[in-house]
Amino acid sequence: DPKAVLRQSLLGVSRNKAVRTTITQAPVSRSVVARFVPGETTDHAVSACSQLGSDGLLGTIDFLGEDTLDLQQAQATRDAYLTLLAELAESGLTENGRFEVSVKLSAIGQFLGADGDRIALDHARVICEAAQLAGTTVTIDMEDHTTTDRTLESVRELRTDYPWVGAVLQAYLKRTEADCRDLATEGSRVRLCKGAYDEPASVAFQDKAEVDLSYVRCLKVLMEGDGYPMVASHDPRIIAIAGSLATRTLRTPDTFEYQMLYGIRPKEQRRLAATGAQMRVYVPYGDEWYGYLMRRMAERPANTAFFLRGLATR
Ligand code: FDA
Repeated sequence: DPKAVLRQSLLGVSRNKAVRTTITQAPVSRSVVARFVPGETTDHAVSACSQLGSDGLLGTIDFLGEDTLDLQQAQATRDAYLTLLAELAESGLTENGRFEVSVKLSAIGQFLGADGDRIALDHARVICEAAQLAGTTVTIDMEDHTTTDRTLESVRELRTDYPWVGAVLQAYLKRTEADCRDLATEGSRVRLCKGAYDEPASVAFQDKAEVDLSYVRCLKVLMEGDGYPMVASHDPRIIAIAGSLATRTLRTPDTFEYQMLYGIRPKEQRRLAATGAQMRVYVPYGDEWYGYLMRRMAERPANTAFFLRGLATR
């Protein structure tokens, strides 16, 4: 499958330092990155959210950054979330959890040696406390499979004090159907996505069709369960199946939501919201856009072409 080859090479090459330097230092025109990342500052993020809000959409905001090996950077990321939450609250955007935040544990210290999990958990607690004060929620993003157990364990600990903390499960992992069963409980917010990392065949389905089938099996478990499913996908077939599963399981629109990434299928986002569904847009911001953008390139050749065209024609 040529698409799978492109995906793997992009994810592989994105870890190369020289490539990273070339791309991040290339004078990429802002409009290219801006299609997926509305800006670098808190103000950019908040004004993007105001716009989404006035279009009837919900949001979850991600301060970009991942895999930090530096305590100060982890603290700075935690603080960026605190500033963001305060500004969102001030703009009235956090009411009823309309705009929440998404956090990567690797960005707030998970990899800082033997104490990493504890450091990340402490930082996450501070962010959760601020979110609670602002009247909204936090979802903990899921990263590569080597972190799944640690991340789920941290989410479980956070939920003892903040039961509304959301987890993310990735349908490409073979373990995920079982994780869905464990997490499909009362009050439990679970975002189901396909998965964005380059994972080995020992733990993950490699074939797109297999990933899609796994997604549907997992979604069925979540929809039939007692939790709050968050259907994170741009895939028209998945969206349609989610709608019929919701009908079949007698779910009302307030008991689950759709989620899509900023800049991807924006018309469909608005169409779904107009049907009365809850549609939450994932809004990444900040200057650490590289890893995020490379995963979006890997997902879709058209995104890569768009990006390269932008590089070439500026
Ligand atoms: P897929 O990429 O298979 O695309 C299926 C179809 O969707 C395409 O055939 C096309 O029809 C349509 N489509 C996709 N992109 C399009 C585009 N640019 N324009 C038009 N149509 C397009 N991953 C992870 O590992 N950990 C995480 O924590 C998260 N978090 C997360 C939050 C949210 C809100 C979303 C939406 C996604 C994530 N992801 C993620 C990413 C996720 O795992 C996955 O990589 C992407 O969502 C792409 O998968 P899709 O389900 O969209 O389908």
